[in-house]
Amino acid sequence: MPQVTIVPTGESFAADPGEPVLTAALRAGLNLPHSCKGGHCASCRARLLSGTTSYPTRELPAGITADEAAERFVLLCQAQAVTDITIETREMRPAREVEVKSLPGRIDRMERLADDVMAVFIKLPAVEDLHYRAGQYIDFILSGGRRRSFSLASAPADGRMLEVHVRRASSSGFTGQLFDTMRAGNLLRVEGPLGQFWFRGDSPRHAIMIGGGTGYAPLRAMLRQLLAVGDRRPLTLYWGARTTQDLYEHDWLVNVAATRPAFAYRPVLSEPQADDSPWAGRSGLVHEAVLADLGADLAPYDVYASGPPAMVEAIRHTFVERGLPRAQLFFDSFDFAPDTLAAMRKTDNP
Ligand code: FES
Repeated sequence: MPQVTIVPTGESFAADPGEPVLTAALRAGLNLPHSCKGGHCASCRARLLSGTTSYPTRELPAGITADEAAERFVLLCQAQAVTDITIETREMRPAREVEVKSLPGRIDRMERLADDVMAVFIKLPAVEDLHYRAGQYIDFILSGGRRRSFSLASAPADGRMLEVHVRRASSSGFTGQLFDTMRAGNLLRVEGPLGQFWFRGDSPRHAIMIGGGTGYAPLRAMLRQLLAVGDRRPLTLYWGARTTQDLYEHDWLVNVAATRPAFAYRPVLSEPQADDSPWAGRSGLVHEAVLADLGADLAPYDVYASGPPAMVEAIRHTFVERGLPRAQLFFDSFDFAPDTLAAMRKTDNP
């Protein structure tokens, strides 16, 4: 069984053959940085200092470039140890700081936010507390152990009720079932908090938040938490959506921007022509709007990006090219569940 050693902490654990290194680390109680677990957000990127790893398919995962792979960077949620390995992680947080719990949750209510987006409010047992940071996510554990990950749109300051924003991705899968048959009172098994996507409060830099579609949810959680604690640092939220219907909290954000001087809200529509009402605001791709606004040097900013893999990929490449240090870029991306991505890869690589 290959042995994995972490630098700089020196901790080590065994990985089963064919098991992603991240899975083995989490099982060993080490909370290595991660988010999507699907190979596209790059949160779990680490440098391979010695030994050999492989990926389940011949293709590199979407979240890593050929150049990065040549520099011996690997994505731990996909990479499997072929030999004993030593890896260097960007960040290492003891599991005790974020106690991950598996709890029953009851749907308290559901509110339609847009044609294909539902807010689901989940109540945990009265005797249980889930301590989390605004921006983290939870998994719903489905039959057969399948999981669906959803960022929490609520913040700790909102109280005990958990809120997630679910976009209907299909008619037959979990999200279709949720829209068509689930009701208040239904039970769900919830596991969390998960992920390392949270606001770095110790940074003095102007924070740029970029949300695509329901990728807005964890940014909303961060914003709500910052508002609740009276944080006054400069913050700009770009929300990219197809039409005005998809900007389901537009009015609230306009109101926040009007009352909090250091906060700016910039909605960007990719398909404004599909709207019933004329759109006088920005149109195009949201990350291009950000680049147009911020100019040639992105070094003075922290960037928090959450949305579909294509958006996150574009940001990861173009923003770093424009001088944004990698350590100032934080990602989240859950458009597809890991098992859906695996099925897509199989189709792509028969
Ligand atoms: S957690 Fe590995 S790429 Fe997202």
